[in-house]
Amino acid sequence: MAKLFNGGIIATGSYVPEKVITNHDLARIVDTSDEWIVTRTGIRERRIADPHIATSDLATIAARRTLESAHLTPQDIDMIIVATVTPDMHFPSTACLVQRNIGATNASAFDLEAACSGFLYGIIVANQFVATGFCKNVMVIGAECMSKFVNWKDRNTCILFGDGAGAVVVSRVDEGYGFLSQVLGADGSGAELLMLEAGGSRKPPTFETVEKELHYIHMDGSEVFKFAVQTMAAMAEEAVQRAGLTKEQVDFLIPHQANIRIIEAARKKLELPEDKVYINLDRYGNMSAASIPVALDEAVKQGRIKKGHNIVMVGFGAGLTWGACTIRWAV
Ligand code: ACO
Repeated sequence: MAKLFNGGIIATGSYVPEKVITNHDLARIVDTSDEWIVTRTGIRERRIADPHIATSDLATIAARRTLESAHLTPQDIDMIIVATVTPDMHFPSTACLVQRNIGATNASAFDLEAACSGFLYGIIVANQFVATGFCKNVMVIGAECMSKFVNWKDRNTCILFGDGAGAVVVSRVDEGYGFLSQVLGADGSGAELLMLEAGGSRKPPTFETVEKELHYIHMDGSEVFKFAVQTMAAMAEEAVQRAGLTKEQVDFLIPHQANIRIIEAARKKLELPEDKVYINLDRYGNMSAASIPVALDEAVKQGRIKKGHNIVMVGFGAGLTWGACTIRWAV
């Protein structure tokens, strides 16, 4: 179906748990140091959800905050997409739990899994529904409790991740605003580079899978790093080109927050000064699908994103997957 309506983001919201784990805290449980983590990643601390808290709890708070900034009621939402790799359970979807929690009785609801690219996949999917007129207001939430799936004995991974949730509403916006370009991609040949191997239909949970620690995140860090540096830079540039903009016309970059060195590669490719790139990984680490929407919400609340600004968002993740878009801010 051809595009009938112009889609864009009309509101943002986010939530991170209060509990802070610093690099110094981690140095007491694994063989690492604040100096190593800061130099290699840029991360200083991360937020961790309490044991009884699950992803839908974080997502629900972010969703309520987003409704408030959108001046919408829960009944105004006609679809909820939750991007997550850490759902409350295999099924029902975390999106259905959020739908119940916020009372969005008119909304369809489903989860979308594209790891750290999940939020970008989510808003681009949402935009298709808005563009055709099938939906008016789609709530897209990136939410993760990474701390529940991290092996706290593995220094290669446990230093990287944090918990949080960010949300947006994708709706109709005026001509000339909203999505100017959309980029999505995947390369399943890199599936084994970053995964949580057991607990699915290939390796259902057994005593053996637990003993072998296959229910934790496993990552080939340096291979993911090489892919990420190349992909973030190339896809950020692709998003700008497809929007028909020059690099000088980019006002702000919201990159996935995995590693400061990966973000720097994207920033340099777009020839942007440091103050045009939002960075919060020093405070939150990598929150997977939640990283971009939390960063976006903070940038909006700080007044760094204004109506008419051309915003580029770019991310990569397990799968392997990637996504990017350019949005002219509409509100
Ligand atoms: N503290 C101290 N030393 C460490 C630590 C640590 N926390 N972690 C690893 N090391 C050691 C390694 O064991 C290795 O030691 P060795 O040489 O004796 O074997 C050494 O440090 C160097 O390790 P490298 O892997 O070469 O370090 P690198 O510079 O590549 O940095 C990092 C590692 C930070 C993980 C980097 O590879 C990275 O950021 N990769 C991308 C990860 C990423 O973005 N993942 C998220 C994807 S998104 C998603 O979908 C979830």
